Amino acid sequence: MGTRLWILMLVVHQVSPYRRPAQPLTCHVVQEDVDCSGLNLRRIPVRLPSSIHLLDLSRNLLQNLTDRDLPDLSTVQHLNLHANKIQFIQPGLFQDTSRLEVLDLSGNSLDLYAALKTHVGPLRSVRHLDLSGNGLFTDMSDYFLSDAPVLTNLSLDGNSITKISRHTFNGSQALRNIDLHNNVIIEIEEGAFESLTGLSELDLSVNSISCITDFNLVQLKTLNLSKNSLNSFQTVDSDLEFELQYLDLRENKILYFPVLPERNKLVYLDLSRNLLRSVNCSGPLEELENLKASGYLSTDHDKPLCLCVNQRHQAFPKLLYLDLSYNQFKSIPSSFFSSVASLESLNISNNCLESFSVDLEGHLNSLKTLDISYNNLQNLSFGENTLAALEVLHLQGNALSTLDPGIFSRLPNIQSLHLQQNLFSICPSLKGPMHDCIRLSSIPTLSYLYLSENSLESVPPGAFHGSPLLILDLSLNPGVDVGTSSLSGLETTLTHLSLRGNQLRNLAVDFTFFQKLKCLDLSVNRLTGVSLWSGDSSVESLNLQNNSLVTLTSDTVFALQESLRTLYVGSNPLSCCGNPYLLTMLQQDRLNVPDIAVVTCWYTRDSESVEISVSAVEPEHCESVDRKVLWISVIVVLALGLMLVSVVALKLCRLKKHRFKRGIRFKRGINA
Ligand SMILES: *[C@@H]1O[C@H](CO)[C@@H](O)[C@H](O)[C@H]1NC(C)=O
Ligand SMILES: *[C@@H]1O[C@H](CO)[C@@H](O)[C@H](O)[C@H]1NC(C)=O
Ligand SMILES: *[C@@H]1O[C@H](CO)[C@@H](O)[C@H](O)[C@H]1NC(C)=O
Ligand SMILES: *[C@@H]1O[C@H](CO)[C@@H](O)[C@H](O)[C@H]1NC(C)=O
Ligand SMILES: *[C@@H]1O[C@H](CO)[C@@H](O)[C@H](O)[C@H]1NC(C)=O
Ligand SMILES: *[C@@H]1O[C@H](CO)[C@@H](O)[C@H](O)[C@H]1NC(C)=O
Ligand SMILES: *[C@@H]1O[C@H](CO)[C@@H](O)[C@H](O)[C@H]1NC(C)=O
Ligand SMILES: *[C@@H]1O[C@H](CO)[C@@H](O)[C@H](O)[C@H]1NC(C)=O
Repeated sequence: MGTRLWILMLVVHQVSPYRRPAQPLTCHVVQEDVDCSGLNLRRIPVRLPSSIHLLDLSRNLLQNLTDRDLPDLSTVQHLNLHANKIQFIQPGLFQDTSRLEVLDLSGNSLDLYAALKTHVGPLRSVRHLDLSGNGLFTDMSDYFLSDAPVLTNLSLDGNSITKISRHTFNGSQALRNIDLHNNVIIEIEEGAFESLTGLSELDLSVNSISCITDFNLVQLKTLNLSKNSLNSFQTVDSDLEFELQYLDLRENKILYFPVLPERNKLVYLDLSRNLLRSVNCSGPLEELENLKASGYLSTDHDKPLCLCVNQRHQAFPKLLYLDLSYNQFKSIPSSFFSSVASLESLNISNNCLESFSVDLEGHLNSLKTLDISYNNLQNLSFGENTLAALEVLHLQGNALSTLDPGIFSRLPNIQSLHLQQNLFSICPSLKGPMHDCIRLSSIPTLSYLYLSENSLESVPPGAFHGSPLLILDLSLNPGVDVGTSSLSGLETTLTHLSLRGNQLRNLAVDFTFFQKLKCLDLSVNRLTGVSLWSGDSSVESLNLQNNSLVTLTSDTVFALQESLRTLYVGSNPLSCCGNPYLLTMLQQDRLNVPDIAVVTCWYTRDSESVEISVSAVEPEHCESVDRKVLWISVIVVLALGLMLVSVVALKLCRLKKHRFKRGIRFKRGINA
């Protein structure tokens, strides 16, 4: 024990020459980078290299920063003091640190220091300052920022700031990126950010701001106001071109469409999880009066209501991404689409849309993704020469049943159709009636098709002919009729097929012809057999869980075993003794059976059925049955033999009796 400790100490000593005798652990030095993190240090080790670039003292127990305690910082560029217990900094400590660019003071107790109301002194070379998680209240940051002329990035994340005053950033005019995430900001004084001419990113997310009345930060590129209590956002009336590209207003209580800069470069606008009802920036006058009376819309510091006065037409010529999900839209007027001509992604899911139509020629012709899932759609129409670039359409959860049968065929670039949770029927491929159904054949770009939970009754022959599907999900359509040629036309493309939860009793499809099929889900059905391959299969993952399978025939096992990598087969009434091929396959190392723990089979013991885990099947379970059969046969044979003998004996006996009787009769007769 003693020797081992001694050896350990020797090793530590060799690796780290800068060890204080009193301290058991030491810093790790690589060239000019010194890592003293996580050592429970209360004081900084005295003997450190004379020239340090990076000094990492994070996750220690330092309390006071004074020049007595700190090594020479004149060469340090990056000083990390994250997660200590710092509550005191000697004023002027950093004034000679002409190289110091990154100062991380996050996760300390600098509120205690700020309570002393002393300035930390000049931070002349610091570009990145992290003061997050220090319990700082309003105005406390002033003691750190009063002389930071080149500071560009500042984090005040996770403090308790309630107000940003117009002097807060007086001494840090070079700021480009300010992170005020997760505070309790209620008020921003006019002029707080205006003088910061280089400011480009401002994160005010997770605060308590209720209203932005005169947004005027022309140079700002990114503004995050998500998770506040905003009921409106209004830009100052201005002819200037705003640089704003990313605006995140998610999770607020905004009622009317925000008033955004007239000349804007907006690329990204997230308005999801608000209370929007229309794309207008204000509602009818009486509605406003009501809201004002109810106190929902407050007037902020003598400013007029946070709403636009005249319905000016807003346009967003550069907008690519617009998220309106989780609002209260009932409709979107066509005119709105002409104001977002470059839009690539539009999300209006989880609203109250009753109809959605894009009917004016040229509208939304850049749109690649449209999500109108989980609405209350009854009508949907796409006009000629609209949505020409659309690749992904989400329509799930709308209870739609009838549509113009050819609606999807007119989307020249459609790749992915999410139609689950509706009430669609599929039209037969070409001939036959074409009403009350949607046509899914001959769409030459379609690769992904999701049709689960549609109460489908049947998949007509050639339903997808001419649509080069890779993925087809037909799951959870209980009772759906899938015939021999339902999937015809998909032989050379289909890679994934799900028929889960369809109450299928049999399936008459020969998957040998589906050369690309890798993943086949047949779980939760009532299949009693799977004779699905006349030759080799290409399937790598097969799910047969929860069916009525007793045996898997040798043909099926031989067809599968070359390609199969993953097999689910639990919850089936498998036979232990009638499945030698399956059991052998399950034992192969290269086959992964994720549900092996619940794969069971049945055998007969003492004329009772017994369920055991397939991994517990022993030859005896089936041999014993053979032996019993043998014994029974022997007994039966013996019994039969015995019976035969008895019968013969009886016959002989009777014959003798007869003769005897006859003899007697004869005798009697003679006597008579
Ligand atoms: C830090 O300074 C305070 C007062 O300035 C003193 O009471 C405390 O003991 C010091 N702590 C350490 C660890 O030196
Ligand atoms: C900020 O500057 C203004 C004028 O430039 C001055 O009146 C104010 O006192 C300064 N505030 C701080 C906190 O330095
Ligand atoms: C500093 O801010 C700029 C943008 O203003 C940003 O791109 C950069 O990643 C930030 N750097 C750090 C270290 O946070
Ligand atoms: C805005 O802040 C939230 C919360 O911190 C974050 O989840 C979101 O990604 C941010 N938005 C943008 C556009 O960066
Ligand atoms: C939106 O404003 C237009 C006038 O520009 C008006 O016709 C329409 O009714 C308004 N829509 C709503 C829902 O208030
Ligand atoms: C649309 O928004 C919803 C809810 O915010 C989200 O779950 C969904 O993934 C989004 N759709 C797309 C296509 O990104
Ligand atoms: C749907 O369209 C039909 C005819 O095209 C129309 O009569 C009906 O009012 C529309 N329903 C809705 C909710 O827009
Ligand atoms: C089989 O599926 C049915 C229907 O989903 C379910 O109720 C049942 O619990 C499943 N059985 C097993 C053993 O997993």
